[in-house]
Amino acid sequence: MIDKQFLMIPGPTPVPQTALLEMGKAPLGHRSTEFSAILKETYADLKWLFQTNNNVFIFTASGTGAMEAALANILNPGDKVLSLVIGNFGERLAKISETRGAEVERMTFEFGQTVDLDMLKERLNKDVNKEIKVITVTHSETSTGCANPIKDIMAIIREHGALSVVDGVTSVGAMDVKPDEWGIDILITGSQKGLMIPPGLSFLMASDRAMKAYEECKYPSFYFDFKAHKKAVEGDTTPYTPAVSLICALNATLKMMKEEGLENIFARHKRLALGLRKAIRAIGLKLFVEDDNKASYSITSILPPEGISVADIRKGLKNDFDIVVADGQNALKGKIFRMGTLGYVCERDVIGAIGALELTLKKLGADIELGSGVKAFLESLN
Ligand SMILES: Cc1ncc(COP(=O)(O)O)c(C=O)c1O
Repeated sequence: MIDKQFLMIPGPTPVPQTALLEMGKAPLGHRSTEFSAILKETYADLKWLFQTNNNVFIFTASGTGAMEAALANILNPGDKVLSLVIGNFGERLAKISETRGAEVERMTFEFGQTVDLDMLKERLNKDVNKEIKVITVTHSETSTGCANPIKDIMAIIREHGALSVVDGVTSVGAMDVKPDEWGIDILITGSQKGLMIPPGLSFLMASDRAMKAYEECKYPSFYFDFKAHKKAVEGDTTPYTPAVSLICALNATLKMMKEEGLENIFARHKRLALGLRKAIRAIGLKLFVEDDNKASYSITSILPPEGISVADIRKGLKNDFDIVVADGQNALKGKIFRMGTLGYVCERDVIGAIGALELTLKKLGADIELGSGVKAFLESLN
């Protein structure tokens, strides 16, 4: 059906009409007083969303741009970085650190698992000379559907004293992250996720400690330069021409988010993800992340039934129901499919998607009882 597509991938996510209408307007001049007023409000609302008193910078770039910005502004060649890797996006932070000439040590955990806190503690206790300058970690690892216990990880990092770079691309605006309270130095996210607008913007919060590291950075990024962005935030502007229409759309979605309230947003993501997980189990499928306590509330990774391919499941959902779900990435390609419950998603959407998945599986020959997943989901809401 035309215009009926439901993106159930972990980004881009569905965009509400209010935001689309903003994007349909003729762009404002980026140095105009009207746009400055919108930016001023947006910067303030981003602080609210990030639960921080620090400034939040806006970059015209995808999430990877903010990942690069984070590391380019604090690392010098030869600096030691410890990268906690539980999936592809954790690995990306390690690779970016290497491009800055850092000496990177990876602590890689089995994909589908979270960081082992005891191992992390032990490693940091060994670093008596405090050689590790930066620790990178992903909160919600989109490639596996796992969510790290970021508050506990931060407590360990704070005790050591290294700077922390946290990828919150699929957690900010979906799962609770409190950078000021937990001591996160740099927290980043992207626009096409919990923020409910199309791709094209990313966001970065930098603590005073991160700004101090920037002062000592010999070759900071030009486009993502922290000082240029800080000055721009203070002047209700941006250093360069921003994606004006996306920022107007963001201004609208942030208002929607404030109306719903952070606690309600987090509770909705939790309810939908845990309900979907119950449904998947009731259908008889296996979850890639078996432990609910380790699951991201933004993305659920599912193993296909024996003898049925991920490609056929995705094709069936797309052709018959206009629902797009994601394949696994890299080594997990064809092994799992991923369903997003991120951003502008409600109960009605998930009920429909579970029903669609059941019929798709049945048509592909799976031995499942129609309605079993929908029933489990409905019961989880009751
Ligand atoms: C956890 C995480 N980090 C980083 C990124 C990279 O963002 P982008 O694709 O917008 O560059 C993604 C994208 O899905 C992500 O899920």
